[in-house]
Amino acid sequence: MKGIILAGGTGSRLWPLTIAANKQLLPVYDKPMIYYPLSILMLAGIRDILVISTPRDQSLYRSLLDDGSQWGLSIRYAVQHSPNGIAEAFLIGEEFIGGDSVCLILGDNIYHGHKFPDLLQKCASLQSGAVVFGYVVNNPERYGVIEFNDRQEPVSIVEKPDNPVSKYAVTGLYFYDNSVVSYAKSIIPSARNELEITDINNIYLKNGNLRVELLGRGVAWFDMGTPELLLDASSYIRTLEKRLNCQICSPDEIAYEMHYIDNGQLRKLAEKYKCSDYGRYLAELAETSVFRE
Ligand code: TTP
Repeated sequence: MKGIILAGGTGSRLWPLTIAANKQLLPVYDKPMIYYPLSILMLAGIRDILVISTPRDQSLYRSLLDDGSQWGLSIRYAVQHSPNGIAEAFLIGEEFIGGDSVCLILGDNIYHGHKFPDLLQKCASLQSGAVVFGYVVNNPERYGVIEFNDRQEPVSIVEKPDNPVSKYAVTGLYFYDNSVVSYAKSIIPSARNELEITDINNIYLKNGNLRVELLGRGVAWFDMGTPELLLDASSYIRTLEKRLNCQICSPDEIAYEMHYIDNGQLRKLAEKYKCSDYGRYLAELAETSVFRE
């Protein structure tokens, strides 16, 4: 399975923070925002990744993430010329996806929870159909909202409804089989002139091919589209990292834990960041786990 991180957009709800800086490069406590969705793809076992960003910011992503080989990944880059909608990712990424299935994650989404990596790996083995995640929110009108029948089966998804029929929002992580590319070609821009991911999800739903995994209280999900959410996410990560004495969503640590890199490679990464707590954490990890290999 291939992975795409969509890291374009305007970030207008964060203005003036995002006038000169791309949203997905902003700090979330001790790491750039894009490290969090990248970590989710890595935990799913996905190592072939396309980062889609604005023409202005592409070089910044390259200097941050490089070709991914430092983490045992292959990272490629593509440009979205204007924010034409989330589903455009599959048109931009058509050649990259080739004949594979694909996981798309929005660059401003964080997921964290016990056993969540197990669920991710299960989803990444998907052969046909699609999987999306539902999450209870207090402001469903800002999201794609899932309507369920009496048997708790999803029957439709409505994008940003005035009168939401449930509190279940579709989050920014999607697993699709290869049909997603032709579905993306078949949809037309919505009234707000975007290729809507909800239209794609509704095609899968109509075909009886959409699985909706409801995320319960064991999983925290944030999108970081507003100053308040950005601060909430930073506070959440800071609290957990301090209390648990571990890193949340460190690509360096995950690459090591997933055996994408070895102890020597982890030491090199630790050396690079040696002036920060982040680097010292990696150095200690390399030191204490040296006999484990
Ligand atoms: P949004 O939060 O819907 O849009 P935005 O990031 O431009 O912010 P705002 O609404 O404040 O102007 O986007 C969700 C994520 O998807 C975010 O990570 C940016 C990304 N995105 C794109 O890369 N391209 C797009 O065309 C859209 C719609 C979103």
